[in-house]
This record gives sequence, C-alpha cells and structure tokens, in this order.
Amino acid sequence: MNGSRPWWESAVIYQIYPRSFQDSNDDGVGDLKGISQRLPYLVDLGVDAIWISPIFRSPMKDFGYDIADYVDIDPIFGTMADFERLIAQAHARGIKVILDFVPNHSSDQHAWFVESRASRNSPKRDWYIWRDPAPDGGPPNNWMSDFGGSAWQFDPATGQYYYHAFLNSQPDLNWRNPEVVAAMQDVLRFWMQKDVDGFRVDVIWHLIKDEQCRDNPLNPNHRDGRPPHEALIPLYTTDLPEVHDVVAMLRRTVDEFPDRLLIGEIYLPVERLVAYYGRDLGGVHLPFNFALLNARWDAKHIQALITEYEEALPKGGWPNWVLGNHDRPRIASRVGRRQAATAAMLLLTLRGTPTIYYGDELGMPQVDIPRDRVRDPFERNVPGIGVGRDGARTPMQWDASEHAGFSRVDPWLPLADGWRSNNVATLREDARSILNLYRRLLHLRKQTPALSVGSYRPYVVDEDLLAYYREFNDSRLLVVLNLTDRPQALKLEEDAHARILVSTEAKRDGDLIPGTVTLTGDEGLVIDLPSR
Ligand code: NOJ
Repeated sequence: MNGSRPWWESAVIYQIYPRSFQDSNDDGVGDLKGISQRLPYLVDLGVDAIWISPIFRSPMKDFGYDIADYVDIDPIFGTMADFERLIAQAHARGIKVILDFVPNHSSDQHAWFVESRASRNSPKRDWYIWRDPAPDGGPPNNWMSDFGGSAWQFDPATGQYYYHAFLNSQPDLNWRNPEVVAAMQDVLRFWMQKDVDGFRVDVIWHLIKDEQCRDNPLNPNHRDGRPPHEALIPLYTTDLPEVHDVVAMLRRTVDEFPDRLLIGEIYLPVERLVAYYGRDLGGVHLPFNFALLNARWDAKHIQALITEYEEALPKGGWPNWVLGNHDRPRIASRVGRRQAATAAMLLLTLRGTPTIYYGDELGMPQVDIPRDRVRDPFERNVPGIGVGRDGARTPMQWDASEHAGFSRVDPWLPLADGWRSNNVATLREDARSILNLYRRLLHLRKQTPALSVGSYRPYVVDEDLLAYYREFNDSRLLVVLNLTDRPQALKLEEDAHARILVSTEAKRDGDLIPGTVTLTGDEGLVIDLPSR
C-alpha cells in the first residue's frame, strides 16, 4: 500500500507496561509469557507494533528504568528464551517489537557503576559524572533531581559526589566519554541481532550536561504545589546543543540494521522538540509528540496545537501523536469517559504514527492508590502533590474473573473500580463500546491510505467543533469531533453523498448525510466525502 515508505509511518504502536499487562506465573506481576499469551488480542485490536517498557535486569527502584544489566532479562519478567519466543511469535503474527532503551542512567547496582565508585582511579570512574564537593562540603552546584532533592549524591568512600537526574540509585552515565558511547552502541546491536524492530529512548534530551556544571537559573514562574525541581530552569542539564551529536550517533547505530525505528522521549516545547529529527533528518525518526498529554480539551485550542505542530515539522519529518503513557494521568479520567472515545478518534485519525497506551482502549481510569499501596518512588519522595504514577499503571482488565484475568493472585497494584464490567471480554460483546471503537478505527485506518498516510488540512469552523480533512489521491475524509457535551451541527462545504464511516456512537456507521451533519454531545465522526 505504501510503496517505499518505512513501516512505522503507517503503523500504530501500542505501549505495554509489562508489570501490568498479563501475569503468567502467579506472582502478581506481568511478564513476557503473559505478553505472548495476549498477542491474539493485539492482532484482533489491530495494532502493528508493541513498545514494551523496560524488561531488563533491575533492582526495580524505578520499576525497570534503573537497569543493572542492559543485555539481560529480569527474572520477574522471565528469561532470554521467553523473550526470543515473544519476538518470534509477535513477528509470526505481523507485530513488530520495540524495546525501551534507557541510556541516560543505569542502576547503582550496574557493574559499571560498582566499578566506577570503587575508587577515584577506577578505569570506569569517568563513565559517570563525578565532581568534588563545593568548598563548604555541600553538593557541587544547585542541580536538582526530578524525583526531589539535590541531584548530587555524596560517596563517602571516595569523597566525591555523583550526579543523578532521577533517584540516587540511578546515577547518570557520562555520554561525553567515548567508551560509554561504544558500550551503549553494543547494547543496541545486541538487541537488534535478536530482531528487535526499534527502540524508544528514555529521556533522550537529558543525555548531555554542562561540562562546567554551571548553576541552573531560578524559575520565576515556579508555583507551590508543583514538583520541587521545577524551581529551576534546566538550562545546563537538558537539551544542550551537543546532545544532537549523540542522537545522530544513536541513529547511525540503528541504521546499521535495516528498517529499525528510533523514537525519542522528549518533553520540550514544539520548536525545540522538532530539532530532534536532526540535521537532514539524521536524528530520531519520531521525537514523541506529547502536545496532547496536557492540552486543554477545547476544539480551538487543539486545532491550533495541531497546526503549530504540523507547521513546525521539518520537511520529510513524520509526525506522531500520544494520548497517554506510564508517566501521565489516564486520558479517560482527564477528559471524562465519553470524551475518551472522541479522543481515541482524534488519536487514530490525525496525520502521523499514533501510540496507544495499554488499557486506554478500555477507557481505563486513573486509579486512586491508597497510601499503603503506593509503589512509585516519585510519589514516595514528593508525596501529596499528585505526581504519583501508579494510578496509570494498574493491571489490564481482561475479564470479570477474579483479579480481572490479569493474575490468579492479588496484583502488585490494585485494580480500577468497575473492572468487573469494564474489561476486554465484556466490552468486546458491546458493539458501542470504546474497545470496539478502537478496533473499528484501527481496521479502517489499515484499509484507508487517507487515514494512515494521507495529508492533513484543517477545516476551519466557527462552531465548537474540531474538524479536518485527510486526503490521499482521490480519497477524501472529513473528521469532525465534538469536544463538548452539547449537540452541534456543521454545514458541509459540499452536499452530495457524504457517508459516515465510523461514529463514536456506532449506530450511525454507514449513514448517508445531507448537507448538514449533526453531532450529539461528545460525538466524533469519520466521514467519507465524494471524490472531486
Ligand atoms: C522516563 C520514564 O518514562 C519514567 O518512567 C522514568 O521514571 C524516568 N524516565 C527515569 O528513568
């Protein structure tokens, strides 16, 4: 269908948080065999690739984002043989597998760090970021950890501090050291030799820090109730110009193997985000576009945000969209359960590669985690201001059996209320469910080049509606989304033969529409327009 386009341009990615997808060995934590068991579900849903959050050997202080061995599977998730089977089975079903690559920091239990901290003369000392204390014995500068407190941890044995952007058990690697670079290139090659189809690179915009360790400036807009690290502007700790050389090098490494995808996790304003496509598109293929994650749910605002993004893209840069991930509140709680369906239609009809967060296809809510069950280190370090991420990481709701079919024992995090009715088995039977909306949209997208790879053109309207065309050759679609709970009407620019392909209200699919289309509150429509 897409000729010479790379596979990810027309693909839909599905993010799996492996601890919470499917437990196969009764320990209350999801695992690789569990993912393998659920591949038929993913095929039926209609996604093309899975991105699995970290599965590598780890003390799990940050649930796998603290890696103690980059080339081994953590026993909680299974074995290397389980992983190899998963890859083979996924590929046999036409599903690509993307791994999480966490190069900014390792666990303090990684052999590299153990060696680095052993002595000031260790050959690996410079693999991490060590500095002498300030003259008063305190930390070298004012840099703060994203998870609270100073970003510097004193090591009494060697009398120096090491830098950690996140937990003090997650020391930052020194990407200015060529040996670190070479070791990490080998990590990428190791997994590509196992047929992994790509990587999502954790906090890629953090990789390089100011060599002179200058203090970060104070943030004059910092407000109470926001995380403490936002008191500083991360001028000298993130998004440094030299980071683009590292990104380009990672890309060259990935390009040593055919058809591999590189995605970057980047939280930056759009004009700085798009720089990560790299000079001559030699950076990451997809710098994650998180613009929708905290967008005000308002048609005009979102239309403007789409236009801003589309206009900022470099020539040839392929767009992408995200509604949720393991670090952010669930979309269904943010915009409400009914709007979650409209949001799904937005995600799956915009131009660019969508990433679906597991469970969003069920409208899984953000779960209130009782204090004694909090697991997230961010919430534990910075309690009470709502930064906790456990609520977006609760177990997948498969069916109405005990523990929602996720496990046979009490899961590591509580299930969301309502799972007995809100689960895959039940929703699959209901033609109007959000799950079936996802399925219909995913299948339509696969069959319809206008949706998967077509152009985007806003349809400017006065009404409180978000509307746009998707076009490919003669095929023209109009997407109309009612982001309010009030009925709305839209006069089409032409009258004859427009037909509804998918409505969030299911029952209207296939209906012909006269010159004016009416939408109920919270409704979204994909409309097939006559070709010109
Ligand atoms: C970004 C990951 O998405 C998040 O879950 C993690 O805590 C931080 N990086 C630190 O690794």
